[in-house]
Amino acid sequence: MDRRDFIKVAGQALAGAALAHPILAEADLAGSASAGRIIFPINRNWRYSRSVVNGGHGRNFDDSSLERVVVPHTNVRLPWHSFDDKRYEFVSLYRRHFKLPPAARGHRVFVDFEGVMTASAVWINGTRLGEYKGGYTPFSFELTQHVDFDGANLLAVDVDSTERADIPPFGKQIDYLTFGGIYREVAIRVVPLTFIENIFAKPTDVLAEHPRVEVDCHLQGVTDPHEALALRVELHDGERSIGAKEIKIASRSAVQTVVLESFGPVKLWDLAKPHLYTVHVRLTTGKEIVDEDSRRLGFRQAQFTDQGFALNGKVIKLRGLDRHQTFPFMGQAMPARVQRRDAEILKKNLKCNIVRTSHYPQSRHFLDACDELGLLVLEEIPGWQHIGDQAWKELSIDNVGRMIRRDWNHPSIVLWGVRINESKDDHDFYALTNALAHKLDPTRQTGGIRYFQESEFLEDVFTMNDFGFPLLPPNHPRYLNTEFAGHTYPTKTIDNKERVMEHTVRHARVHDQIASNPQYAGGIGWCAFDYNTHYDFGTGDRICYHGVTDIFREPKPAASFYKSQCDPSEEVVLEPAFHWARGDEDIGFTKALVCSNCDHLKFYIAGKLVAEVDPDRKQFPHLRYAPFTADLENAVFAWGDLRIEGYIQGKQVIVKNLSGRGIDQRFEILPDDTHLIADGADTTRVVLRVTDEYGAIRPFSNDAIKLEIEGPAEILGDNPFALIGGTGAIWIRAKEQSGTVRLTATHPVLGVQKIELGVSDSVPEIV
Ligand code: GAL
Repeated sequence: MDRRDFIKVAGQALAGAALAHPILAEADLAGSASAGRIIFPINRNWRYSRSVVNGGHGRNFDDSSLERVVVPHTNVRLPWHSFDDKRYEFVSLYRRHFKLPPAARGHRVFVDFEGVMTASAVWINGTRLGEYKGGYTPFSFELTQHVDFDGANLLAVDVDSTERADIPPFGKQIDYLTFGGIYREVAIRVVPLTFIENIFAKPTDVLAEHPRVEVDCHLQGVTDPHEALALRVELHDGERSIGAKEIKIASRSAVQTVVLESFGPVKLWDLAKPHLYTVHVRLTTGKEIVDEDSRRLGFRQAQFTDQGFALNGKVIKLRGLDRHQTFPFMGQAMPARVQRRDAEILKKNLKCNIVRTSHYPQSRHFLDACDELGLLVLEEIPGWQHIGDQAWKELSIDNVGRMIRRDWNHPSIVLWGVRINESKDDHDFYALTNALAHKLDPTRQTGGIRYFQESEFLEDVFTMNDFGFPLLPPNHPRYLNTEFAGHTYPTKTIDNKERVMEHTVRHARVHDQIASNPQYAGGIGWCAFDYNTHYDFGTGDRICYHGVTDIFREPKPAASFYKSQCDPSEEVVLEPAFHWARGDEDIGFTKALVCSNCDHLKFYIAGKLVAEVDPDRKQFPHLRYAPFTADLENAVFAWGDLRIEGYIQGKQVIVKNLSGRGIDQRFEILPDDTHLIADGADTTRVVLRVTDEYGAIRPFSNDAIKLEIEGPAEILGDNPFALIGGTGAIWIRAKEQSGTVRLTATHPVLGVQKIELGVSDSVPEIV
């Protein structure tokens, strides 16, 4: 069972629901000081104040008038653009009351924060425990000494969301916004005095007949080697145990390694079939279980070589995009479902095989989805160009440790980024970040994203942002381009045809060059999604329009280039990279660019065949699926619908029609999901679109859509919502009651659309 599933189970058990987990014996709940850990989420029932209140850290303060909030929480909701970051730069107060279950007695108690932006001063029952500095990394405080095991407890957090120069990434300007609040989940963890603190499962000899897994069990509180403790480690394939080993703990060492072998051939983790296993670790006294935990893992060999990146011994050209994890209206405070959706967009819609978590460790939900979908990840520490003083660097080095210790079991992660993105060289600093990464995780290579080729190569992979074209030739072995395009060609969905086509070409031609030379391990373009930024970057409305999708994750034409690079057996793609309009160019329609994995296209205007083309190998000689360019200058004599047929080996496999009539025809509302959980945080996106009669987006449709919601959910977003480039989205967030949600959207001309979403009961939380 995954650690988080276990949390759910524990939450259920504590709420008096069915006892589903062996280590939560009934006796525990009845109050005996027996075995096992109890982890319960405390995401609901927070009290929130936008300012720090006098006495607000103590138990006696009456917080009943403060707003009740659920985390992930953003300290302020914002418009999707054109706002001042000062609106979220303030210090707020969060308070959470809780009681411990009787079984907590005799145990140690921690609070685990997964991510709070940016500095958190934490109090328990009026005692200040300290301040954690950092918005992207997890942290814990021990509560044992101060907690009341029988009565009410009060956790209080001052959350400083200002841009504090003492904390990475701050100190100078950065080209993105960090937002504020307790924006990731929180849990109380009750563990025995000797407990499993972490697990690192390292598959080795993955391609051999008999692979092995070395499982490092990180323990705390092992005081006496004679206390007859043992570790039992089991490897599970789904429900089935396929290997097990038990060792006696013979030393006080905090890391005990158990090696599992002889479990025969395994199913590899690869991009098409990312098979996942689980290791279960039990700390026992021989008879009784003391503690127990588990982690997921995948068997895969990932290596950057002089001839490119090899996964399980096979070289794969990396093709990906950089991702900021920020969202309209909510900053970073989006729950699991929405984080996971981004991974799906990258893998299934944009057909990427890698994503870079620019420029910080991202949500574990996103990474879990990457593991499940087979999407490789380059994960990096927080930072942007600026390196601070010694104390700042120490925080940054600490970030390396926290990132790796949190994420070392994710098979999707193939490279640690251990430099501040695009910073100057700093030998001592980066020697330390690299040494720490290698010490903690000898199984993965390091990279460090730089902007000049002369930069000192302290890492294993030379990761380089190269915005020029043609790209610089690789000057190092193991060379990966980690950013291109971006600010050199910002493009909006509403830009004219020449610009959106050129944007597409710029992404395609870089990947084409990358395909020309095996020494380029691949290219990660800037970037996946448009993102909010500071006043001194972007287009003047606090957005960098650098994405191949807009900020709502709706595709621009450049997205179709990425999409078209998949094998047709996965999906046949034919995407025109233009709007069909006769007069949007200076003289009239001339050139058509189409991204497709077909081998031949036929163009018809008003029913008449006007052109037949093959992939444009002149412009893109190296791409497996080169885009098509068709010269329609002399063809556009009679205006009408454009029909493009795609052929593979002479057989017609796809058709796309674009209307030539210039009329908004259809209004659609498209929810990503039709079911939510009533936990107060679960959220899904609802896309709003106006299209022609064939389903192509109408890029200049900008009407305001009126929204009405009934039932246990709220709208995150503008209402009315004015479409941008014929599209846009709002999100729907469940409340804490089950029921049916009805969303009605009214377009001023095209009428009303309705959808229904079910919201089902969730596991209650301990109060
Ligand atoms: C890079 C930077 C990114 C982003 C990008 C815009 O220099 O690393 O964070 O600002 O430029 O193209």
